[in-house]
Amino acid sequence: MKGKKLIKVLSAVLASALFLTSCGKAEEASVSSETWISAGSELAEEAVDEQALEEAKKIYLNKDLPVAERVEALLSVMTLEEKAYQCVQGEQDNVSVEDVKRTGIGSVLSGGGSDPVEGNLPEHWQKRVNELKAAALETRLGIPLLYGIDAVHGNNNIYGATVFPHNIGLGAANDPELMEEIAHVVAREVRAIGVQYSFAPCLANPQNERWGRTYEGFSEKTADVVRLAGPFVAALQGNVKGDEYMPEDAIIACAKHFIGEGYTAEGVNQGNVEMSAAEFDELLGMGVVDPYKACIDNNVLTVMPSYNSIDGLKCHENKHLLTDVLKEQLGFKGMVISDYNAIGQCSGTYDEEVANCMNAGVDMFMEAQEWDRCAQTIIKLVKKGEISEERLDDAVSRILRVKFMSNMFDEEVGSAHENELFGEFGSEENREVARRAVRESLVLLKNGNVDGKLAMEKIKEATNITVCGSGAFDIGRQCGGWTISWQGEAGNITLGTPIVQGIYDEVKEYAKVSHSVRGELDAASDVIVTVVGENPYAESAGDVKPSDLKPISGDVKLLETIEEQIAANGNDPLKVLIVIAGRPIDINDYVDKYDAVVMAFLPGTEGEGIADVLFGDYDFTGTLPITWVKDFKKIDEKHELPESEILFPYGFGLNKTGELLVRK
Ligand code: BGC
Ligand code: BGC
Repeated sequence: MKGKKLIKVLSAVLASALFLTSCGKAEEASVSSETWISAGSELAEEAVDEQALEEAKKIYLNKDLPVAERVEALLSVMTLEEKAYQCVQGEQDNVSVEDVKRTGIGSVLSGGGSDPVEGNLPEHWQKRVNELKAAALETRLGIPLLYGIDAVHGNNNIYGATVFPHNIGLGAANDPELMEEIAHVVAREVRAIGVQYSFAPCLANPQNERWGRTYEGFSEKTADVVRLAGPFVAALQGNVKGDEYMPEDAIIACAKHFIGEGYTAEGVNQGNVEMSAAEFDELLGMGVVDPYKACIDNNVLTVMPSYNSIDGLKCHENKHLLTDVLKEQLGFKGMVISDYNAIGQCSGTYDEEVANCMNAGVDMFMEAQEWDRCAQTIIKLVKKGEISEERLDDAVSRILRVKFMSNMFDEEVGSAHENELFGEFGSEENREVARRAVRESLVLLKNGNVDGKLAMEKIKEATNITVCGSGAFDIGRQCGGWTISWQGEAGNITLGTPIVQGIYDEVKEYAKVSHSVRGELDAASDVIVTVVGENPYAESAGDVKPSDLKPISGDVKLLETIEEQIAANGNDPLKVLIVIAGRPIDINDYVDKYDAVVMAFLPGTEGEGIADVLFGDYDFTGTLPITWVKDFKKIDEKHELPESEILFPYGFGLNKTGELLVRK
């Protein structure tokens, strides 16, 4: 039986040629392969099967041949089942080595916090990823397994990785060359554990920071996203052009989430963009599609549709967007991968969800738990003609192209190169790049006058510094969501340098440094550095009411305590406020009371980048990639507010000498 299905996919030419040799009758050579199959014996079929596979292997396993030729050769010997399983991605928690061998599943992901059972060290990952990858090579066709992970600010899920500022901080840095440096480190730390694919970058341009994913976007302005994401994608993928092969320490990027996610009503995650399809098309034309264009120009190999809907229609089932706009107008040649269980949010029965999304243009289904059911559904729908064979072949070709281009067929599992990279995981050198990113991402919002000097000049006279707040001693808080776990977590969750440690290292030659979580001040302190902001969150868990866009309650308490103590001590130290948050938050009350205010966003593991600028010789160069309103109750109308209602406009940022920086 197996042989029969296989023979159906042989090209007519091959079938006729074989028929000719076995029968020698030219006039019968035109019969279709299917007619011929029913005439042939099982044994002959198997033989043809074997022979065709051998021939195909000579092509698709030959790395000297062009990608397109290899894709075609492989596709020609694939059964319907094999094709369908290439189109699904399961969560590693739900995919065993046996599953891989049995089904030839195309891809596996680790969702946020989905560590190998053995642990969350790089070696546990390398072992788990490589056992699954090795299993794929034991299938009939030996198609390698694609492993995807959310390396959205470094290879952030793994203990000890270098964690970079979240995108919004990189948007403040606004430095394309820095983006390339970061991409190189991320790619190498991802490759080090055998993973070839990251679901990054996020191209959202958030319009309403009530949205819990605001920090995943670089900027509210699409032109900034274009400027940063293009070079980032190019560098992540090793500047691969056209159908070339990627260099070995590059990874596959994913432009996500297509499209409009930053425009949902009230900033609701996965919500609805309240515009007609025509209005939305207009919005696309006004620059919203440009970040995708930039990534496609830089050959991004995958795109992930967004959970949101436009006028009630989910992007995943929107053929106009996925096929007409993305694949046809923008000329995207790579694969479209659905978001985590996202098809379940589309309309209809499971069959309808799969059919509609695939027909709309989804090529690979991230069906974390239901990947097996999804593949079986694809098989059923193709047999019923509800998904055409052409659509399936197109999807599989796109997936295989990505696999060939990323050298998956030509590299050893656990190669020597991978082991070399493994040795560099979380290295000092990699952390230096992240530390630089932190320095560049800081935005000086206030540099007040103190005794005739600017606060940032006065700070050089410090002799006794108290650093206040839990945020100053909390790697988890400074990293935010998507760190070690999906949601992230306050506390000592991974290796890195807390902000207070960085300050101590920077000034220890000349100043005393104390740290107080609750804000008990040394009366002799001449500088108080207070760190306040948000606790970690990710996706919908970060969606808030306008009134919740403020420092967490512990930090509000801290600010009060500090104020009371300064009043009681009767001295007047220099007061610096550092905000660690994924978005602007309400700090109106404190801006007046503090001499200097720094927005640090979510800097990641390398907290000493803050001290480098605050107490060291580096100047502030960051500018706001997002408008900061005065009254957060008006956040839903933020872009309609008059200037007088804006606390810090988009592009705002000062340097140490008090100049207003000009955002490029
Ligand atoms: C997110 C994606 C992410 C995926 C896999 C989804 O919930 O929207 O950004 O890549 O999960 O973790
Ligand atoms: C996963 C995330 C994913 C989310 C989607 C979580 O369980 O860990 O990666 O983004 O589910 O809802």
